Amino acid sequence: MDRTKSAKVSLFAVWTILLVLNVNGQSGCDTHRFANNIAFTSCTPLSALGSFLHWNYNGQNSTVSIAYRHPGTSSSSWIAWGLNPSGARMVGTQALVAFTNSSGQFQAYTSSVDDFSTQLQPGSLSFGVSLVSATLVNGEATIFATLELPANLVMTNQVWQEGPVANGVPQTHQRTGDNMRSIGRIDFRTGQSSASGGSSGNRLRRRNTHGILNAVSWGVLLPMGAMMARYMKVFTAPTWFYLHIVFQVSGYVIGVSGWATGIKLGNDSPGTSYSTHRNLGIALFTFATLQVFALLLRPKPDHKYRFYWNVYHHTVGYATIILSIINIFKGFDILDPEDKWRWAYIGILIFFGACVVILEPLTWFIVLRRKSRGGNTVAAPISNKYSNGVNGTTSTTGQHHQDA
Ligand SMILES: *[C@@H]1O[C@H](CO)[C@@H](O)[C@H](O)[C@H]1NC(C)=O
Ligand SMILES: *[C@@H]1O[C@H](CO)[C@@H](O)[C@H](O)[C@H]1NC(C)=O
Ligand SMILES: *[C@@H]1O[C@H](CO)[C@@H](O)[C@H](O)[C@H]1NC(C)=O
Repeated sequence: MDRTKSAKVSLFAVWTILLVLNVNGQSGCDTHRFANNIAFTSCTPLSALGSFLHWNYNGQNSTVSIAYRHPGTSSSSWIAWGLNPSGARMVGTQALVAFTNSSGQFQAYTSSVDDFSTQLQPGSLSFGVSLVSATLVNGEATIFATLELPANLVMTNQVWQEGPVANGVPQTHQRTGDNMRSIGRIDFRTGQSSASGGSSGNRLRRRNTHGILNAVSWGVLLPMGAMMARYMKVFTAPTWFYLHIVFQVSGYVIGVSGWATGIKLGNDSPGTSYSTHRNLGIALFTFATLQVFALLLRPKPDHKYRFYWNVYHHTVGYATIILSIINIFKGFDILDPEDKWRWAYIGILIFFGACVVILEPLTWFIVLRRKSRGGNTVAAPISNKYSNGVNGTTSTTGQHHQDA
């Protein structure tokens, strides 16, 4: 049992490291390599929706070849990027659009956005465009095009967006968060992008860091620590106790740093509010901190208040885990990473669920059998110090140790 458990633990460790490396490996401006060795001299991370604009500007004939890159594009969403000489807004944008059409091909075309109810119908732009194409590889979409820029468009407004596709037709995008902030300035000649664009690559990195830290701590370490307390107790006292402490304390430390990055991200973007996610996060931090302090106030195993302490510890503990999982999915909705991350986390939860389904009856079986033999329900040699106050034979508190 111990061996399979530690094998599972190391499997998770490896898995988690891979997850971290892979998300960090998502390439930004400097590290991105295009297929066919196409090279762009300029690049800027855009200030919202995790997008990038790469380009080559040719001053002689005033053309610019661009690549608009949007990681995290599914086959049921459209993406668009365009220039709007008439203002920093949607209407008037001369756009390049791409989505997976009903024949299953990722199709790119131009569209002039003339009103709010646009369905991004194909249409010509106010300037010449050639070599329009798009690729969708591993969930990363890129639109390529060459624009013949009139003088007033060398420095202008850029607008980019993503939204859902239904029945082969682009639908209205969300009206919250990043979808409302995906506007900026671009100067193709000097290579400068929107004022807010400078720090956005950094911001994307911070959002990903926040997501990883919290998914690993609140979403993996804390539930694992709780399962150790519950299922290893019958086999390995007092090892379970130390493992529980190690997992919960490291989960708490990593979780608090992830939480702090989230609070900072929230404070840095006053225009955006993910209030449910934020409030849940604050509640979780409070619960987890209470748990850590409760440890210091833990009554001795045979103290008459120990029963109440146990009830409290388990209630707050399980509530924290359930709320954490809910908040991680809220976070997935906000960060909107590639689907595989959400599925990876769902896979972990299914694994946890399977462990519970197998270990719960097994634990009960062992406990009841030991009890019927009149022995200790916890592994020998048992030290009362670690057994959460109940030694299994007679319970002065009336609470079975299994409620741990
Ligand atoms: C602009 O100049 C570049 C390089 O001189 C050339 O490759 C490109 O075809 C020209 N584009 C147009 C539209 O004339
Ligand atoms: C889908 O896109 C491809 C490539 O642009 C095009 O050849 C095809 O006609 C499109 N299909 C539909 C249904 O629009
Ligand atoms: C532990 O077991 C002994 C009898 O073996 C009993 O007297 C004692 O009350 C038990 N302690 C607790 C905390 O249940």
